[in-house]
Amino acid sequence: MSRFSFDIQPVNRFGGSNTAIRRPKEVTCFSYDDKRQFSLGDSSMQYYYPPSLPADLNLGFDTFQKLNDTPDEHLDALLDSITALERDTEKKCDVDVITWRGMMTKILAAPYDMMNGFEMNATCFQGTIFIEENNAYKNEQKEIQRHQRMPPGMPSQEMMMYWGYKFEVLSVLRQPWDPTPRAEIEARPDQVVNNSAQYCSVVKTGMGSVRMILGGEVDAVWDCKPERKEDPIHWVELKTSAEIRNDRDMLKYERKLLKFWAQSFLLGVPTIIVGFRDQQGIVHRLEELDTASIPGKVKKIGRGSWDGNICINFAAAFLEWLKGTIKEEGVWRIRKQEKSPVIEVFKVEDSGYGDILSPGFKAWRTQQ
Ligand code: A3P
Ligand code: MG
Ligand code: MG
Repeated sequence: MSRFSFDIQPVNRFGGSNTAIRRPKEVTCFSYDDKRQFSLGDSSMQYYYPPSLPADLNLGFDTFQKLNDTPDEHLDALLDSITALERDTEKKCDVDVITWRGMMTKILAAPYDMMNGFEMNATCFQGTIFIEENNAYKNEQKEIQRHQRMPPGMPSQEMMMYWGYKFEVLSVLRQPWDPTPRAEIEARPDQVVNNSAQYCSVVKTGMGSVRMILGGEVDAVWDCKPERKEDPIHWVELKTSAEIRNDRDMLKYERKLLKFWAQSFLLGVPTIIVGFRDQQGIVHRLEELDTASIPGKVKKIGRGSWDGNICINFAAAFLEWLKGTIKEEGVWRIRKQEKSPVIEVFKVEDSGYGDILSPGFKAWRTQQ
């Protein structure tokens, strides 16, 4: 069966001229509630309100209501929201690629993330490439991670994951600050942490000649959504990170900034709030990062361990290549193996669309 590959290395060939990028624009949104029930609209949108410091991220770990993310959700929620949008506007979302933001983050970061691998499934339907995560691969990776031994004295992987969600709960409100009662703000540390609820923004964006629709979670809005649909939304991404104590920590943080930047850049999230925590999971300090200026800072005052321009040029070149490669139905695998300098693309099923497209979406699109 057909087999292709795209070289990531050497990355310097992606330097130089800037690829044209379109500002991501939200076209629709959807929410999951804390029972993981899907609904169209912004019912799970949250409002940023700074946590009081110091903030203990360990509190309530024993009551953590953790989403079971083992089952494969495919692109279902994203496709449901696109179907509703097409029905409302009576216009087909005619783009080259439809996928989760998380898939595109992996591609954008690939030039500087030699170590890690990824696996995605893709298909071409009515001229659009649909890309989902390969769930079996994701679950295998999670198992490997779970069995990794932590050095003595270090908190468990589970605990460190909890810290991230706890920080979110401590930093948001369910409604804008103005009508929120003081007591509710002060009660945030006692709130049970449940990571099933999510607000997902669905944006139209583009790189080079490739037009895309991406769906991804956003943590909070700074103030509230603007009245005018064409105005940018002041989204906020919340992150925790270990306090920087030495040069080694600094380099680690700079590498982490690549992921923060890529993730936020793709959905047009302008601000990232980082809660710096100590090794016991206590946040002592917040830093507000302006997403757009991260690559410049890494280049000028950092170690220059990555170049955002190269990431964008690489992603655009890869996607243009992919557009010329995945041009027919069947299930294709997009794979980068750990430590490998290439992305492989090959067919794993000759016809059909696997489970990448939901029956509802296929039915909607074929009756049009
Ligand atoms: P931190 O990023 O502060 O560690 P997101 O930042 O994308 O909104 O995700 C929220 C939290 O989910 C993360 O907080 C982290 O705790 C957890 N998380 C997200 N992706 C993860 C992954 N690949 N492995 C482990 N935990 C993850
Ligand atoms: Mg999040
Ligand atoms: Mg976050």
